[in-house]
Amino acid sequence: MDTGMTSSNRPSPPDLRLTPPPTESAVSSAGGEASSAGLPLSRKDSGYCAAAGHGRLPTPYYERDGITIYHGDCRDILPLLGPVDLVLTDPPYNAENMGAHARTYKNTFFPMSKLDYQRLCRRWYRLAHRTCSRLVFTPGIAHAWAYPQPDWVLCWHKPSAVAFNRLGGFNAWEPILVYGKAIERLGQDYYRLDPKNFLKGAEREHPCPKPIELWHWLVTKFSVEGDTILDPFMGSGTTLRAAKDLGRRAIGIEIEERYCEIAVKRLAQEVLL
Ligand SMILES: C[S@@+](CC[C@H](N)C(=O)[O-])C[C@H]1O[C@@H](n2cnc3c(N)ncnc32)[C@H](O)[C@@H]1O
Repeated sequence: MDTGMTSSNRPSPPDLRLTPPPTESAVSSAGGEASSAGLPLSRKDSGYCAAAGHGRLPTPYYERDGITIYHGDCRDILPLLGPVDLVLTDPPYNAENMGAHARTYKNTFFPMSKLDYQRLCRRWYRLAHRTCSRLVFTPGIAHAWAYPQPDWVLCWHKPSAVAFNRLGGFNAWEPILVYGKAIERLGQDYYRLDPKNFLKGAEREHPCPKPIELWHWLVTKFSVEGDTILDPFMGSGTTLRAAKDLGRRAIGIEIEERYCEIAVKRLAQEVLL
């Protein structure tokens, strides 16, 4: 269904910076703290997060053509952002390492205790939900119940996937929780696509990037051209890449600097569609 909504007849996206970013010197002199989440921070990290902890947006790690990346903890940065049109994300599953490159990648912050992880789920969900009228994310089957009841659940069907499920077989699907309405008629509420084990782009340097085709589908169904999409758990930048490909603006937040670097590399490629 054509909704007739385009960037030209919608109000222009809000100014996402409620406060001007601090100067470099203000950022670097603010270092040496723990994030609000109590996570350990490296000396370099502490400058970014400490600025957010003092009610100021940190200097973007990357900012070009309507795409912005913040390096830091989303629990510190989300409260400082204004409204966006869509939050599309893929929060961490609290696994130590996972995905096709599980043996070679170690997470700095995971696994957390069950209680800390539940706190993380509640906190980011509450902060993200207040910024938007449409929130779409892949919680992982085991954690889907950590969140309030969604308006709908979509299914990513990956028939050839070989990860184990907890009941003695293979896990061939993932839920996608939807809060709010689709913009474009959804058609069937599932997407069939096998994950690729051998990736060619910079995203192969992240342990669990989501397939760009699946993300193109979600961006198309839940936003229109010119919208601003926020991903508080950016990883290798799949949401930002899909936004760029489809003419949306985007903001990504990522706690690990090495993943911010991957996202920047992906954004440097020509538009893929
Ligand atoms: C499941 S991965 C997202 C992968 C992404 N969808 C992609 O396609 O590359 C979750 C990401 O969230 C990041 N992360 C975890 N805790 C975070 C936090 N508190 N704030 C921001 N990023 C966080 C992790 O470092 C990881 O890269």
